Amino acid sequence: MEKHPSKGIIGAKSKELKGKRIVLCVTGSVAAVRSPEIARELMRRGAEVYAVMSKNAQKIIHPYLMEWATGNPVVTELTGKIEHVALAGEHEAKADLVLIAPATANTISKIAAGIDDTTVTTVASTALGSQTPIVIVPAMHQSMYKHQVIKENIRKLEALDIEFVHPRIEEGKAKIAETGEIVETVVRKLAARRDFCGKRFMVTAGPTVEYIDDVRVITNRSSGKMGVAVAEEALRRGAEVTLVYGLGTATPPYGARVLNVETTEEMRLTVLKELKSRRYDVVVAAAAVSDWTPIKQRKGKVSTREVSTLSLKLKPTPKIVDEIKKAKPQVFLVMFKAEHHVSDEELVERAFKALKHANADLVVANDVSRKGVGFGTETNEVFIIDEEKNVVHVPLSSKRTVAERILDVVKVKLEKISL
Ligand SMILES: Cc1cc2nc3c(=O)[nH]c(=O)nc-3n(C[C@H](O)[C@H](O)[C@H](O)COP(=O)(O)O)c2cc1C
Repeated sequence: MEKHPSKGIIGAKSKELKGKRIVLCVTGSVAAVRSPEIARELMRRGAEVYAVMSKNAQKIIHPYLMEWATGNPVVTELTGKIEHVALAGEHEAKADLVLIAPATANTISKIAAGIDDTTVTTVASTALGSQTPIVIVPAMHQSMYKHQVIKENIRKLEALDIEFVHPRIEEGKAKIAETGEIVETVVRKLAARRDFCGKRFMVTAGPTVEYIDDVRVITNRSSGKMGVAVAEEALRRGAEVTLVYGLGTATPPYGARVLNVETTEEMRLTVLKELKSRRYDVVVAAAAVSDWTPIKQRKGKVSTREVSTLSLKLKPTPKIVDEIKKAKPQVFLVMFKAEHHVSDEELVERAFKALKHANADLVVANDVSRKGVGFGTETNEVFIIDEEKNVVHVPLSSKRTVAERILDVVKVKLEKISL
C-alpha cells in the first residue's frame, strides 16, 4: 500500500525520535481535541505514532481524526488480532513508549488498580508487564484532580516508574500540559544517553542589560539560544539544571529551574549565591553579559527636549566567570569566549588566555563575524579548548548539535577527574 500522505511530516523538525514507535492512547476527556496535535509533533520529531482510543474518547473525537493525524489505522476495540499485545507486548516489534494523553481520572485509577477493561487500560497493563516506558498526561476538572484517591493512584503509578506530565491548574480545571512539554518528556524518556543523572548544572544564558537611565539600557544582540540548548541537552541527559537567564528571547527548556536576571551585577550575585547555597557539579557560563556599564546611571527618563546631547562614560562590568572557581574551586567550569573577525589560531590563542585567567576547565570559542555563527543564529561554529590546549573543532552545526558536542567533552573530562 502507498504511504499515507500524513506521514510526510515525519522528521520534518528534528530526528530525536527517529525510528521510535509510540503508542498514543486517547481517553474520554475534552482534552482529546489536543491528541492530534500531540501525535503530529511527535511525528515531526521523527516518530511513528499508533493511536489507541477508549470508547469514551470516541465520543469526543472521531477515530478518523486520529487516523488522519498519524497515518496509521486506529485501535478502537480489541479483536482477535490482540492489538494490545501487538503494540505493547513482549516481542521485538513492540512500541518504544506508551503515551496516555489525555488520561482521565477513570483510566488512571483503573491502571493503578490493575484493572484492564478498555483498549487503553489493556495496552497499559501489557506495557507495565513488558517494561515498556509509560508517560501519563492527566486532564480533568480540578475537583477530580484534588480527590485523595486519584492523588494516591498517581503516586502509586509514579512509584512504578510511570512518568506524569502534570496538568496546569486554570479556570477550575486541571488542564492538559502544553504539547511542547509532553513531547519533551517523551524525548527525555527515550534519550539514548542518560549520562548526567545525579549531576547538577548551572547554566548562564542570554544578554544582560545596563541601565543608562530608569528606562533605557545598553546590551548586546545575544538571544540566549546557545545557553538554552546546553541547558536542554543537560536535562535530556538526566542532569538537574538551574538556568540563570538574562533577557534572552529563546524559551527556557521544560524542567529547568529558571532564575531571571537583568543586569550583570544581578547575574553575578545570583551565580555566587547559588554556588554558596547548593552543590553544583558543572557551571556553563554561556551568557553574553553586557561588558560595559555607565559610570553614572541617570534618574527617571532623560528627555531629548531638555538635553540636546548625552555623553556616556562607561566602565567595564565585573567578569563573573573569573569569580566562579574562586567561589567553588571543585566545580567544573565551562566558559564561552566570543571574538570578532580573527583567524582560527588567534581565536584559540585568545580563548586559551581567557581560560587560564578564569582558571576554567573548558572554553568554547567562536568568531561571531563568521556566517551563521553567534548572536541570534540557529547555528554555531566553535572550538572547544581544554586546560592543556587540546582543541576540538565543531564545524558549523545547529546549536543543539554544538551543545551535544560540548557535553560530550564535559562527560569525558568529568570521568577523568573521578578516576
Ligand atoms: C464531554 C465530556 C468531557 C469529559 N472530560 C473529562 C476529563 O477531562 N477528564 C476526566 O477524567 N473525565 C472526563 N469525562 C468523563 C469521562 O469521559 C468518564 O469518566 C469516562 O468513564 C472515561 O472513560 P475512559 O477513561 O475509558 O475514556 C468527560 C466526559 C464527557 C462526556
